[in-house]
Amino acid sequence: EKTIIKDKLDRPLRDLRISVIDRCNFRCQYCMPADQFGDDFEFLPKSALLTYEEIERVAKAFVSVGVEKIRLTGGEPLLRRDLPILVEKLSKIDGLQDIALTTNGVLLPKLADKLKAAGLKRVNISLDTLNDELFGKINGRGVGTQPVLDGIEAAKKAGIRVKVNMVVKKGLNESEIIPMADFCLKNGLELRFIEYMDVGSSNGWKMDDVITKKQIYNMLIEHYQLDSLDPAYFGEVAKLYNYKNTDVNVGFISSVSESFCSSCTRSRLSANGQIFTCLFNGNGHDLRNFMRNGATDEELRNRITAIWNGRSDRYSDERTEETAKNRKKIEMSYIGG
Ligand code: GTP
Ligand code: 5AD
Ligand code: SF4
Ligand code: SF4
Repeated sequence: EKTIIKDKLDRPLRDLRISVIDRCNFRCQYCMPADQFGDDFEFLPKSALLTYEEIERVAKAFVSVGVEKIRLTGGEPLLRRDLPILVEKLSKIDGLQDIALTTNGVLLPKLADKLKAAGLKRVNISLDTLNDELFGKINGRGVGTQPVLDGIEAAKKAGIRVKVNMVVKKGLNESEIIPMADFCLKNGLELRFIEYMDVGSSNGWKMDDVITKKQIYNMLIEHYQLDSLDPAYFGEVAKLYNYKNTDVNVGFISSVSESFCSSCTRSRLSANGQIFTCLFNGNGHDLRNFMRNGATDEELRNRITAIWNGRSDRYSDERTEETAKNRKKIEMSYIGG
């Protein structure tokens, strides 16, 4: 029998996004701009990170209060040493239905087989363009697309399901919308177009930089016939369409123009063991010291319940140019998308 806990807006707790490391080998300008995450940036020291045993313990506690889906993120999660060991621990948890990973893909050629063997079923890989020069500029490291394309191939070959995430920013990569759609359709990959968001306080977001779901949809239907699909489950983030007469889908994550807070069932665990109840709420709740100071499993579970019961976040529903500027927010590389 399963416990279901609800927040102040009656939303159940269903997903846990776990950031395993705050570092990344890229410096995407919309996420970790190179001028703000430079050589002197202080990332978390190893001693601050939750161990795999601690992550497993937190995950079990979350599953006991209703979490069915866990996603590993970062920073870049594959930079954390021996990640397949964590995947293996998590995949043994009773009652967990889905374990996924969000990655830039570069380390997948090295790790895909091990991740698959550990129990990973699917990955979401970020790729914002097929143009090498533009990609190098976006990722802030001058890296071309080939390492990511190799990562996609490696995951497919290992038998891991792949989706592609493309953040669209006005004036940067909107010309890549159709080429990316073509490429993903041809290769049987589900592409999700993501509206550029005001995450953190370092990317200099403006409402005017956003290309909306509607705009992208209008571009797509000039080239393809799309059938609207119903959500596969309550709170699905992406709105999906099917390319007529194919088994390939394409999606939109419209967190700016059509926010989805009313069905948001997601909690986030930072690499140093703080719980965040919204991507845009910088007020974390510590679990690491709580555990290190000897909390019992029951105390851990009660604390998680209390945090979730107190939740009333609906930032994207309330977003304006003003809140985007003035709210103290948490960096996405720390909290994990
Ligand atoms: P699936 O389970 O494959 O649908 O994964 P997902 O889309 O939930 O996760 P992913 O890590 O691939 O995230 C895709 C985009 O959705 C990223 O830009 C995330 O920041 C964004 N996203 C995911 N969850 C939320 C959320 O709760 N709120 C907001 N505003 N954006 C979210
Ligand atoms: N807006 C929207 N999506 C973002 N991501 C990173 N920064 C932003 C942003 N500012 C995406 C990444 C990755 C996912 C976890 O979040 O591209 O696919
Ligand atoms: Fe790294 Fe992903 Fe952020 Fe890019 S979007 S800097 S790959 S964590
Ligand atoms: Fe959930 Fe916050 Fe995103 Fe709304 S803005 S969907 S409450 S994480």
